Amino acid sequence: MHPKHSDEQWSTWFDTLAENDFVLIDDFFPVTLLAVVREFFQKQETQFRPAKVGQARIEQRVPEIRSDMTYWLDQQRDAEINDFFLLVEDIMERLKLELFLSLQGFEFHFALYPAGGFYKPHLDQFDARSNRMISVIIYLNENWQPGDGGELRIHKDSEFVDVQPLLNRAIIFRSDCILHEVLPASKPRRSLTGWLLKRPSGVGVLGI
Ligand code: OGA
Ligand code: MN
Repeated sequence: MHPKHSDEQWSTWFDTLAENDFVLIDDFFPVTLLAVVREFFQKQETQFRPAKVGQARIEQRVPEIRSDMTYWLDQQRDAEINDFFLLVEDIMERLKLELFLSLQGFEFHFALYPAGGFYKPHLDQFDARSNRMISVIIYLNENWQPGDGGELRIHKDSEFVDVQPLLNRAIIFRSDCILHEVLPASKPRRSLTGWLLKRPSGVGVLGI
């Protein structure tokens, strides 16, 4: 994997993350990785399942809260996108060094919101499952236009910021404190979404 962004660039982004609790990064993946990820997404689309809400043992499908379909990635099985997993590991190492986060493990899924799809306001940390520290989303939508909806709305200090889900745009934010939602989109909306974990899932709270 050839690094696309310089150390200085990463440091600047992490400063923003530390200061604002989120950072927006355009032109995130190298061109080849973007193509590989999009191709793999397309290949898996028949296997997407309705997303669930809650913690592992009591998670349920709640279509009035979220209406996306997901495909959970597995580093061993999904070797075709291994460069993606390497990039995630690289980001985790940088975050550990620069922001002193104690990260261990990650979980990612592809997400497909059908036309009209949404996700109501929420935090990515649940009471019963608080091992998600940092949320990472990369959008995969070519030719997304302002009228297409599907913005990620970030609520902050009783104001909000709307982020368009543009191709190869990434957003990284704190899972514990950033309240956010996905506004209804008028056409299918694709992303690669995941979490950097404080400890691997299946351990701690979930493992009791
Ligand atoms: C999520 C989420 C936001 C987005 O999957 O938890 O909030 O912009 N996604 O896709
Ligand atoms: Mn979320």
